[in-house]
Amino acid sequence: MCGIVGALSPRDVVPMLVEGLKRLEYRGYDSAGVAVIVEGALRRTRSTGRVAQLAQQVQREGVSGCLGIAHTRWATHGEPSEQNAHPHQSHQEIAVVHNGIIENHEALRAELQQQGYRFESETDTEVIAHLVHAHYQQNQDLGQATRAALAQLEGAYAIAVISRCEPQRLVAARKGSPLLLGLGEGEYFVASDAAALIPVTARMLYLEDGDVIDISLQGFQITDLAGIPLERNAHISQLSADIVELGPYAHYMQKEIAEQPRALTDTIEKILDWGPTPALFGDEHGAVLSQVDRVLFMACGTSYHAALVARYWMEQIARIPCTAEVASEYRYRASVPHARTLIVTISQSGETADTLAALKQAQELGHPYSLAICNVAESALVRQSTLSFLTRAGMEIGVASTKAFTTQLVALFALTLTLARLRGALATAAEEAPHLDALRRLPNKVQHVLNLEPQLIGWAERFATKQHALFLGRGPHYPIALEGSLKLKEISYIHAEAYPAGELKHGPLALVDQNMPVVAVAPNDQLLEKLKSNLQEVRARGGELYVLADRDSRFMTSEGVHVIRLPDHEGILSPVVHVVPLQLLAYHTARLRGADVDKPRNLAKSVTVE
Ligand code: M6R
Repeated sequence: MCGIVGALSPRDVVPMLVEGLKRLEYRGYDSAGVAVIVEGALRRTRSTGRVAQLAQQVQREGVSGCLGIAHTRWATHGEPSEQNAHPHQSHQEIAVVHNGIIENHEALRAELQQQGYRFESETDTEVIAHLVHAHYQQNQDLGQATRAALAQLEGAYAIAVISRCEPQRLVAARKGSPLLLGLGEGEYFVASDAAALIPVTARMLYLEDGDVIDISLQGFQITDLAGIPLERNAHISQLSADIVELGPYAHYMQKEIAEQPRALTDTIEKILDWGPTPALFGDEHGAVLSQVDRVLFMACGTSYHAALVARYWMEQIARIPCTAEVASEYRYRASVPHARTLIVTISQSGETADTLAALKQAQELGHPYSLAICNVAESALVRQSTLSFLTRAGMEIGVASTKAFTTQLVALFALTLTLARLRGALATAAEEAPHLDALRRLPNKVQHVLNLEPQLIGWAERFATKQHALFLGRGPHYPIALEGSLKLKEISYIHAEAYPAGELKHGPLALVDQNMPVVAVAPNDQLLEKLKSNLQEVRARGGELYVLADRDSRFMTSEGVHVIRLPDHEGILSPVVHVVPLQLLAYHTARLRGADVDKPRNLAKSVTVE
């Protein structure tokens, strides 16, 4: 989703701004722009192409300056166009970049138009530029003018503002959208994501909701909206500069699928060292986890699918009542709170607006216990939860989530074992041992599945020409079918649906004919025979079957039935193993269709707006 970079330095900041935008490309965008103050004038360049095009444009035009802001836009208000691209400006004096959504922009626009302001774009952001300008006319102070403008806004924002009248001042603020300050040697940077700043500094300071930062070359001050000074601590980011290098891979998604054995090993390390203990989640003495008697998972997209898998584990192993909800539904539902529920939010980014809002809603309803499972240590979700578990997937750049998902599953398995131990459902070390052994062996099993890639390319060649696909699974493999269908649709644009196989005859069977490929996730578990009957129903209607079977599942390849056998694996963790071939199938199908695998149309990596 939208990305912000800003810089104030004694040197030319344009190359740094452009490099920062490149590092934010993975978030998804449809236009980009940069504005700098040069010789007392505001100079703006925008493009509906890629950041590389913007870079060529600024080079051609010789744009340079010591103070600048830059942005990648993911359209919300108004189509993707140069006119709607950020930065937005007022009277060629004030320029603003903005992430988030201003909910009262229509009323503000009408007021500003009455005052004589003319709008060039359809965006909600342009009202901020004009509002700052209007206040600046009264107080001639960019910090004060920005705070006064922000006080009129309803909604979410991260913004950076510059003025041609103050060529050594950068003002930025956040409420609901992430923003951080980078501290260089005599220079300052702001960005919506640490990845943008890593080449210039690792010293960073995260702004909190409601913070406004006023930066000059002499230093900076953080205040609240009323101008009251606040203290925030800087820290050293753990991201490394080469984190976004693609290496030998064609796409980030391919790289991230291949990284899973490493990501799993890193995430499992502490679980194996410490055992399933509350301390894994920051609950040193089990004071929180031993209180809970229910679990409620909340998440979006792929992270929600992880929750659905974990629900099966929780009830089967820990014997604790458990539900999973889509965060965007929970946040507006009149749910009945139960104070001893553990609210577990799951998010790769930790910045997903719906998941954050769902957590807030749960807390307001009177749930004191919350746990975030997240891949980003400094994220809002982690900071706003009582407990947390950090997956060690490493930065995920492809919009389609892969290694984040499998590491989330491992974290959720550790939570299951921990609650099982606390509740006496796993009473002895001997009862825990097979589960921990399964975890220990998992990275190796996943590596074996990756070796099936050539067979999955064979399947992808057949899928690449299809318009629709159906995915089936049962038990904890139903969410894996959901995940397989989400992966395929989001990057290849093939329409895909997933069902619990038992639901087939209640409707979707009507869709099955010889043009409908049906993928079945078919491990050798207690539901296998039931699943086989469902698949017979598909074959009888001419549907072509693609079966992910275990070695001993007794499926034979035959006319219209394609079988890939997975290497031996641990039964209980089989959802982690079975999702990997589905990731590879989606990846190669999208690649063969020539799709932009890492940046699928209309989607963003980090969904920071509602
Ligand atoms: O950062 P989060 O895990 O909170 O993101 C949630 C979803 O937006 C995300 O999983 C999305 O569904 C992915 N594009 C799926 O591949």
